[in-house]
Amino acid sequence: MKDHANQKLPLQGVRGAHIVILTGAGISAESGLKTFRDSDGLWEGYNIEDVATPEAWQRDPALVQQFYNERRKSVLEAEPNAAHYALAKLEGKYKVTIITQNIDDLHERAGSTNVVHLHGVITRSQSSKNARLTYPITGWELGMDEVCELGSPLRPHVVWFGEMVPMISTASQICAIADLFILVGTSLAVYPASGLINYVPDEIPKYIVDPKVPTVYNVANVTKIEAKATVGVPELVSELMR
Ligand code: APR
Repeated sequence: MKDHANQKLPLQGVRGAHIVILTGAGISAESGLKTFRDSDGLWEGYNIEDVATPEAWQRDPALVQQFYNERRKSVLEAEPNAAHYALAKLEGKYKVTIITQNIDDLHERAGSTNVVHLHGVITRSQSSKNARLTYPITGWELGMDEVCELGSPLRPHVVWFGEMVPMISTASQICAIADLFILVGTSLAVYPASGLINYVPDEIPKYIVDPKVPTVYNVANVTKIEAKATVGVPELVSELMR
């Protein structure tokens, strides 16, 4: 990044400082997983209301299961990209918390060890009776006949539209104690995730990496990096690791 070449980044050399990163679908775009708002309102050809709401699950659970089985297959076939790996590298020098809106497990597969999934993770299932009961899914298919220990059908462990986001208060507390904040690949179109940047104190440096950086209102100390994740993130990380 030319304009940072001579500028000392705020945390260079500050070992152990806490870097908080909020990621969205854009960080997985170059791994071949489509973003949401670039696909004219459909999600892989489905209407959100038909596959990603509690009402859809009540109405046609088999269609919902099929949709997430297809998504899970794509996730398992995808590989982490240079941006995921660069963020994992930060752990060699800093305390790092990744808060992701993504339901893929690419951050974990790239080596990040502290990932908060705001919207759940597609590689796990959850009891349709008690959301706190979650289970790993081996392979890509979750069958309609699979049940939890309470005997109720297993659904994908993802937060559907209209459902509460159980991890949001944890995530906001983490943002409030960041020493540096990085936002990668999110349009900030979906609340409450989009409000997390407002929990980061004014004086904390914030970096936004996105080819089309979203507008943020009333947020201080923002540096915009208009670049794809696989370009902007490794560059930023290499400067932080110097
Ligand atoms: N590198 C970085 N950013 C990218 C790239 C890329 N290669 N390609 C696209 N982007 C950016 C887009 O410019 C956009 O700002 O990624 C962002 C994707 O925005 P969305 O599609 O809205 O995805 P996201 O912000 O993660 O959506 C949030 O909405 O649909 C719900 O629950 C779903 O978690 C999702 C939430």
